[in-house]
Amino acid sequence: MQNLRYVGKNLFIEKLSIKNILKTNKTPFYIYSENQITFNYLKFANTFKKTNPLICFAAKSNSNLNILRILSRLGAGADVVSGGELLKALKAGIKPNKIVFSGVGKTEEELKIAISKRILLINCESESEAKLVNNLGKKLKKKVSIGFRLNPNIDAKTHKNISTGKADNKFGLSIKNFKIFLKTSKSFKNIKLDALSVHIGSQILSDAPFRKTLNVMSKLIKELKLNLKYVDLGGGFGINYTDKEKPINLSKYSKLVHNFSKKINCRIIFEPGRSIIGNTGLLVSKIQFIKKGTNKNFIIIDAGMNDFMRPALYEAFHKIIPIAKKSSKMRDKIEFVGPICESTCKFGVYKNYPKINENDFVAITNVGAYGSSLSSNYNTRPLIAEILINKNKFRYIRKKQNLLKLINS
Ligand code: LLP
Repeated sequence: MQNLRYVGKNLFIEKLSIKNILKTNKTPFYIYSENQITFNYLKFANTFKKTNPLICFAAKSNSNLNILRILSRLGAGADVVSGGELLKALKAGIKPNKIVFSGVGKTEEELKIAISKRILLINCESESEAKLVNNLGKKLKKKVSIGFRLNPNIDAKTHKNISTGKADNKFGLSIKNFKIFLKTSKSFKNIKLDALSVHIGSQILSDAPFRKTLNVMSKLIKELKLNLKYVDLGGGFGINYTDKEKPINLSKYSKLVHNFSKKINCRIIFEPGRSIIGNTGLLVSKIQFIKKGTNKNFIIIDAGMNDFMRPALYEAFHKIIPIAKKSSKMRDKIEFVGPICESTCKFGVYKNYPKINENDFVAITNVGAYGSSLSSNYNTRPLIAEILINKNKFRYIRKKQNLLKLINS
């Protein structure tokens, strides 16, 4: 994050020292930089300026209402995957004609909301879903604009748990079955195939899988002589979590996309999540205890895997940095762990870490995407607060969940 830096020994986001927030606020909490959110969105939009795509922010990556509002004001649409996300996107001011709805298991209730709100596209993922949309359209006396999500059987070369475009993944329909669908769906009078969509995975760092996808899509559109308004190319653009990783080169990809869009003569839709919001957030946590172990010392922090799941789910690396840096180092190997009663509630092993003590504070970095949105009440712990920083000011964009309310169910 460009807006994150040490001033002397203290960590700042934008113009605010995190120490100042800690004076009045209990950890753990998420903090985000508004400036960084704006910067990332505008940078993405600018990279694809020539193509003028519709940028539908993937709400699942961070569905905080205030964050959706910021993106809405910047002109973003939304990619939603549930009725809840759809209603939230609308509440944030995102117009229905900028909303696309993805997901393999949409319910009748969710589809009814999408149809009656007249969102841009329902991206169907199976013949059964398209049939249901057609029937609901008939009942509601509407012709529904749909996209069809394809499974191009392309390896996105990412973590196996976040790969979505291979034949073994549940997402989309294979090209062979899509061709069968086209023949059998002729009688579906209440849907109109306006788009094809594809999303091959997340945290993709190379442009090669995207290039392959464009080739598959253009060949298919030509072969089937499809008359589409949109091609939705999904999200998946990777960011650098480690110092060694390089984020994907989007300007190179933008040229390919531009040529593709000219060839097929459709408007392009993107569904970026992580690349917009990933590097905008920190999770601030207190060191509760330090415990000597046999091979390493455990730094027990007050944030748990319920607050931040990515390391437990994908063994993801997120650098942890001190809020106030000391120049001396610790010789022993340390492991940051959380309080949850699971061995996977851990956040990384370090050697030669700057000296830290009990009651000091640290920040887990790059947690803006799939941080808060993946959090849970596991171990009956309340959802934590979210704070937005703008220059030298901060405000709550979600209050910590009330524990008394939580224990009543
Ligand atoms: N569009 C669709 C249809 C998706 O399924 C996803 C993410 C996106 C867009 C946004 O992808 P992004 O640009 O953020 O990579 N929880 C995992 C990531 C799961 C991604 C699921 N789909 C993680 O923390 O890495």
